Amino acid sequence: MASYWEEHLLRTEYPLLGEVTEADVCVIGGGITGMCIAFELSRLGKQVVLLEAERVGSGATSGTTAKVTVQHGGDCYTRLIGRRGEHHGVRYAAHALWALQRYEELAKEYGLDFDYTRMPLYLYCNTEEGKGKLMEEKHAHERLGIQSQLVDPSALPFAARAALMLPLQGSLHPLKLVLGLARVLQEGGGRIYEHSRVLKVGEDGVVTTAHGAVRAKQVVLATHYPIEDFGGRYFLKMYQERSYALGILAPSLLDAMYLGMEQDSVAYRPMGEFAAASGESHETGKDPKGKPYPRLHQRVQQQLGEIKVYGCWNAQDCMTYDGVPLIGRYQKGDEVRFVATGFGKWGMTHALTAAKIIGELVVTGNCKDESLYAPYRFSVMDLSRGYRRHLGTTIASVTAGWMGLPSINKGGSVPGGRIRRRGGKRMGIYTTEFGEEIAVHAKCTHMGCGLKWNDVDKTWDCPCHGSRFDRFGNVLEAPATRGLGEEDKA
Ligand code: FES
Repeated sequence: MASYWEEHLLRTEYPLLGEVTEADVCVIGGGITGMCIAFELSRLGKQVVLLEAERVGSGATSGTTAKVTVQHGGDCYTRLIGRRGEHHGVRYAAHALWALQRYEELAKEYGLDFDYTRMPLYLYCNTEEGKGKLMEEKHAHERLGIQSQLVDPSALPFAARAALMLPLQGSLHPLKLVLGLARVLQEGGGRIYEHSRVLKVGEDGVVTTAHGAVRAKQVVLATHYPIEDFGGRYFLKMYQERSYALGILAPSLLDAMYLGMEQDSVAYRPMGEFAAASGESHETGKDPKGKPYPRLHQRVQQQLGEIKVYGCWNAQDCMTYDGVPLIGRYQKGDEVRFVATGFGKWGMTHALTAAKIIGELVVTGNCKDESLYAPYRFSVMDLSRGYRRHLGTTIASVTAGWMGLPSINKGGSVPGGRIRRRGGKRMGIYTTEFGEEIAVHAKCTHMGCGLKWNDVDKTWDCPCHGSRFDRFGNVLEAPATRGLGEEDKA
């Protein structure tokens, strides 16, 4: 379903890559991250080609609630100091603060209008435990030099036990930003291709699509989840999470953003005359309770009373195990391939961080914060933790995928998706409301895990690393690059 950002927006059409061409840098992915990186590299004098599998600004960018903030989750700095130390906490916060400022400069310098608005963000809590965490986070702010202030929670538009205010955070319109940057990129000589899904990235910088190729000196993978996964072991470094948003009419929420400390709390941000309420996150392919929109609606009503809902949408985010994105060289010592992923729910801030870091690495070969974000920073112990966490899911799903085992067997011919075994294969059968059946091979083309039906979006989702396919088997989300039934296409 279309998100709020996609409505009433005129898009520029970009051609399909239908030739073999050359570039200094090929950026793969036309979301906010890929566009910010391509824009920065072009600004630094590189000849850039950007390839997008669908339309520029589709995918994760279209589903974001587009909060630009230094606060990346309720207790992010308490955890960051605990895991990576105060030095890295200071640098991480400095990047986030810089991004808040940089958006303002981009709007002014290039005459871009993407509704960038500065406003406070309130961290709130509803429990004693949440209050304890909020006080610890305040202490972490003091250690790292982040401005924040405890405020009277009764001033919030809903009941809260305590609240911490961070001034001058930001919000923006992500599609207006991406389309604006694309225009400036193209005016500066950058080339953009849409409907050009990348099938292969060579270690030599050759990027292959179905109808063409780019011979680049360097390549940046900005595909949300890296499409070339085996060498970098990204599947051991992160997992994917889905979350849901409602567009609501709530005038009391229009001048600030709100973020809860508790796991099940709702986040809010204003959007013109409406607000977005988001929450109900779960790992992709593993919604434990089902019906996320009614649950979110109920939680919002508990906080705000009766509300008018005008729309809903969802997003998928790549989550790292230490909460810090993976930005930099694809592998240690790699001079050709770079990657930006694992942004959690904070892509607006990290997109600019990625542009800065990858810009420096590509142009000078160095970046002083390379170690903080390096995708290869994890120890064998860290990787084995990621491995153990997903071992059960992976074994069950791979077994189902390879052995053809059905994991859903009910439903008969009622509309919806179910797994059947046919001809020794594990098939996903989607029955339309008119009784028509659409059958796909329900084995993920990434690494062979068994797919699960997602009845909210009518998609086939992979519980292993988060690839998603529409009911016809077309790829919606990486790391898979091939549709269902296309396993043998190179
Ligand atoms: Fe990796 Fe499906 S996403 S096996």
